[in-house]
Amino acid sequence: MPARGEFSSRFGFLMAASGSAIGLGNIWGFPTNAASNGGAAFLLVYLVLVFGLAWPALMAELIIGRHAQSNAVRALQGLARGPLTRRLGTIVGFAGILTVSLILSFYAIIGGWMLAWAVEAPARLLGWEAASSWLRADGLSRNVLFDALFMGLTILIIMAGVRNGIEKWGTRLMPSLFLILLGLIVYVMTLDGAMDGLAVYLIPDFSEALDPQLIISALGQAFFSLSLGVGTMLVYGSYISPRESLSTVGWMVAALDTSFAFLAGLLILPAMYVALASGVEIFDASGALVAGPGLIVAVLPALFDTMGGAGGIISVAFFILMSIAALTSSISMLEVPVAYVVETRGISRHRATLLIGLLITAISLTIVANFGVLFDSVVTLTTEYSQPLLGLFFAVFVGWIWHRHGVLEELKKGHAGVEHTLFWKFWPFYIRYVCPVAILAVYVQLIWF
Ligand code: PHE
Repeated sequence: MPARGEFSSRFGFLMAASGSAIGLGNIWGFPTNAASNGGAAFLLVYLVLVFGLAWPALMAELIIGRHAQSNAVRALQGLARGPLTRRLGTIVGFAGILTVSLILSFYAIIGGWMLAWAVEAPARLLGWEAASSWLRADGLSRNVLFDALFMGLTILIIMAGVRNGIEKWGTRLMPSLFLILLGLIVYVMTLDGAMDGLAVYLIPDFSEALDPQLIISALGQAFFSLSLGVGTMLVYGSYISPRESLSTVGWMVAALDTSFAFLAGLLILPAMYVALASGVEIFDASGALVAGPGLIVAVLPALFDTMGGAGGIISVAFFILMSIAALTSSISMLEVPVAYVVETRGISRHRATLLIGLLITAISLTIVANFGVLFDSVVTLTTEYSQPLLGLFFAVFVGWIWHRHGVLEELKKGHAGVEHTLFWKFWPFYIRYVCPVAILAVYVQLIWF
């Protein structure tokens, strides 16, 4: 079997794992969700859910991964106590691989749009009018080409492996992402209307904060945002050095992801109200703020158009930001099936990546060609139904199937005194009782209401 990859440093892991977590979900999901659901009150609910439920679940994946030193399927099988739990491990592991491959196939479509928009402004500035309108229009040929291009970039990085691909690009791209985001926030804050957006984002309205519907969407958002339930964090965990304290890096990833979501809100909401002040429609037919892809490819470009020459530059910066955020997440998705195939079928990383990458590209292009029928269903199925359910099973594996002693031994590596920390006092209880019950409650709501 080929030697397994390992991140070279804590910083390398943090950039890679937060690169996975910080993605399109943070930039368009969190801010609009917050603005439409009570502003800072949503932020509070979200923080409670992230640190009360999603972070414990993230820890479960990291711990399983590093313990098993293996892909998701083998890792879960390895924790089994008998044939029944072994079979459960196989099913959950494979369901994770399937789910993450489907997530990648819709994510690549949006990643492709971001790339297309990133080159649109330069084309316009160069006077290439035809190219610019082709890049703007939501046409099949553009979507196919840029979807394939986005998948191509993802494949190239994953081919290069853990250190030379995932870690290298994570440490390059994540700081750039941070700087571009800060620059954009500062600029947008100076424009007319920005303060109205800030008020909508930050003034709490508690009347909606405890609505069950809102809690469901906040939990879904938290699971998607931390890349949970599909084996991504498990596989990244398996590349963490045994000298590293898992409890420390785990909370750092959760904190980085949440901080980025919060920062993204400081850009998106003010930008939407600046757009409103310039006459762009930012509410949909039902009166809610435009969210999701519509926000990114309709509202914001319209805003950039009103800014004259500066708009072109801002537009490029913004869409490069989106492309980077998408790419550091998409590589973490492709790594899940690739790690499985490399480790169980003995195929080289190059071949495995190419094979699986092309397969997912084919699925993605099928969705592009049948966008109206397939896109929303694939998103709902994977992110709303599959991810939380699989997250529940990961919690069950760590809380009920794996021996508590084994979990502690794993955590002690890199953190000898972990037994006496607050983390070890609360977390085992959380992962055994609170996480499964809470996820189940949300799930029941989702299915029955
Ligand atoms: N966390 C990523 C985002 O917020 C999405 C993701 C989901 C990445 C599942 C990996 C696995 O965009």
